[in-house]
Amino acid sequence: MTSGTAPIGIDDIELATSHHVVKLDDFAEANGTDPAKFHLGLGQDEFSFPAPDEDVVTMAAAAAAPIIARSGTEGIRTLLFATESGIDQSKAAGMAVHSLLELPSQMRVVEVKEACYSATAALQAAVGIITRSPGQRVLVIASDVARYELDTPGEPTQGAGAVAMLVSANPKLLEIEPVSGLNSADVDDFWRPNDSTTAIVDGALSVTAYLDALTGAWTDLAAQGGPEMAEIDRVLYHQPFTKMAKKAQVHLAGLTGEDLDTEIVAGGSGAAGTDVSNVAAAGPRDTGLATSTLYNRRLGNSYTASLYAGLCSLLDHDEDLAGKRIGLFSYGSGSVGEFFTARVVPGYEQHSRRQAVTEALDARVPLSIDEYRALHAAELSSAEDVSTPKVTAGPFRFAGIKGRARLYERA
Ligand code: HMG
Repeated sequence: MTSGTAPIGIDDIELATSHHVVKLDDFAEANGTDPAKFHLGLGQDEFSFPAPDEDVVTMAAAAAAPIIARSGTEGIRTLLFATESGIDQSKAAGMAVHSLLELPSQMRVVEVKEACYSATAALQAAVGIITRSPGQRVLVIASDVARYELDTPGEPTQGAGAVAMLVSANPKLLEIEPVSGLNSADVDDFWRPNDSTTAIVDGALSVTAYLDALTGAWTDLAAQGGPEMAEIDRVLYHQPFTKMAKKAQVHLAGLTGEDLDTEIVAGGSGAAGTDVSNVAAAGPRDTGLATSTLYNRRLGNSYTASLYAGLCSLLDHDEDLAGKRIGLFSYGSGSVGEFFTARVVPGYEQHSRRQAVTEALDARVPLSIDEYRALHAAELSSAEDVSTPKVTAGPFRFAGIKGRARLYERA
């Protein structure tokens, strides 16, 4: 909350994902791997995979469309599009969303990049804009397709998803507090060169860099006068795979000396309906680790959207959040970490999207491993005009390439 002025934060939020899904049980069978390695070792059950006529734009527009339908466009003068799966070196992917959603011309549309962190930078920039112009609202969209090379350790942590957030004064869901803990360090843990469609990653280094950033951001939060752990009710983490959130929770417990619950929900698919009551028993403090990882177990890594998919999961599965303070740890390889806090607005539960998200996850069409590998290998060159096959059941589609420009349409 900004002192002396209206609170600013997330007024509305929506999660969208892709048409296809790869089940890690099928993946394990095809690779001769013990499925427990994925369910328990990584904390993942499935990953979303885009159809040929989907990308970060179509998922982003699908996430933002219901928000615009509910709230209209009045006061929205900025669209910040956070992604590391950019579709062009110059033009912001948000321009295509602006067009698909028929948003007003009187807007600025920008793309923001720093690996998985950039949605948080966009969110903080949105808060800044609204602090200066409280009547304005900002549309922040995080959308990514996480791709690693076939047959690499990162492959089972792929995924795809978009989260759209409407940021405003007097928000209905989350009031963002002013103090942040920050940490930047130049590290080559994960990156994607301009001529590569897949990320390059030093897995072990990336885990260490993530935890180092958590230490740095938490320490800075304290130095900036932020709340102590005892004053934080729930904690959300960037979730490249949900076991990483568990590692982060163990790390934070060590940093703070608090006895925090470190159990993530284990088990097979359909986790969004999983009973999590067993993790709320007496003992270590439950800070929402299990409830905030339910969607991401099924989405896979959605890079910039991942932390905010975790927020959706928490808001949709925890009925005791009114007035509670949430800590959010955002991490982007390369690397930037930010630990900030927010208060949940009473009445948040009236805006649950649990049914819609669960239906969307359930409706994804499974790919056989052969189909998935063929789709993964198929790469479109912008050098030739092409029309994509009509596959997606989503509201928007990537129609193809003409004159080296990407074309989008309502499906
Ligand atoms: P790996 O080869 O699966 O590693 O790679 P592993 O063999 O050590 O196994 C992983 C875990 O599974 C281990 O547990 C094993 O014990 C366990 P841990 O020691 O971690 O607690 N395991 C089993 N458990 C139960 N039953 C079994 C079994 N077998 C093994 N049968 C790695 C893992 C994360 C390195 C890989 O998936 C990877 O490279 N992923 C991509 C990078 C990544 O996600 N890094 C995370 C931090 S960086 C980040 O978050 C940023 C990012 O989102 C990008 C961005 O910012 O843009 C990635």
